[in-house]
Amino acid sequence: MAQTSSTAVPHHIAIVMDGNGRWATRRFLPRIAGHQQGVGALNRCVQACIARGVGVLTVFAFSSENWNRPPDEVSGLLELLALSLAREVPSLKANGVQLHFVGDRQRLSEKFKAGLTQAEQATEGNQRLVLNVCFNYGGRWDIAQAARKLMQEGSEITEMALDRAMALAHVPDPDLLIRTGGEMRISNFLLWQAAYAELHFSDKLWPDFDDAALDAAIEVYRNRERRFGQTSEQLGADSKKTAMKAA
Ligand code: FPP
Repeated sequence: MAQTSSTAVPHHIAIVMDGNGRWATRRFLPRIAGHQQGVGALNRCVQACIARGVGVLTVFAFSSENWNRPPDEVSGLLELLALSLAREVPSLKANGVQLHFVGDRQRLSEKFKAGLTQAEQATEGNQRLVLNVCFNYGGRWDIAQAARKLMQEGSEITEMALDRAMALAHVPDPDLLIRTGGEMRISNFLLWQAAYAELHFSDKLWPDFDDAALDAAIEVYRNRERRFGQTSEQLGADSKKTAMKAA
């Protein structure tokens, strides 16, 4: 979707919430304990985004490839999502959060799918923050499903048409993409939409990602010059930023 050029507060932040397993293993706990802590970190991050005026938060909760994890971890994550929905939807609703689940629902049980739809419907009028939870999601899946949709409609495959057919067509592209846990890759997340996102890699494990870590990421973002293929001169970059870059 459309790009935003302001570098004040990112309108759309996307996060690969990595490091839950290591957080738990370091404490001799089962990996699912790390994911449970991860839900807490996500709740705090939602509040922090609202307080800072971020409009869209997109998080990677379960990738198309995560089915290959040990079966007890997979079922634990599915259960955790169902439990978290039951527990968190009322407060998300009260806080003005509009919830979307982004990903392939075909493999999910009817009961599970109904839970996702109910949560989306319960929050659909909300305007303060759009929260996209990517579940059974992969960037390649998204591009393929968008292309398939256009082919079925008999539409020409153009960038604009693909953009409209993508699973995140309801929000602008992310401005800032954060990955926690110290790894420097995007792991099939938002391959299409992150074309011009600023990338930030944090060493913090996701359960430890706090307001200060979010502020640090936003500060790094504010000091980036977003050129979208243009030159600094074309953007009329202010002298302060130019001086800072030269220093
Ligand atoms: C990656 O950490 C994290 C995940 C695969 C799951 C992310 C899920 C949450 C943060 C909980 C929120 C989830 C729901 C269900 C809303 P990892 O397990 O790969 O960590 P590691 O790299 O340390 O092993």
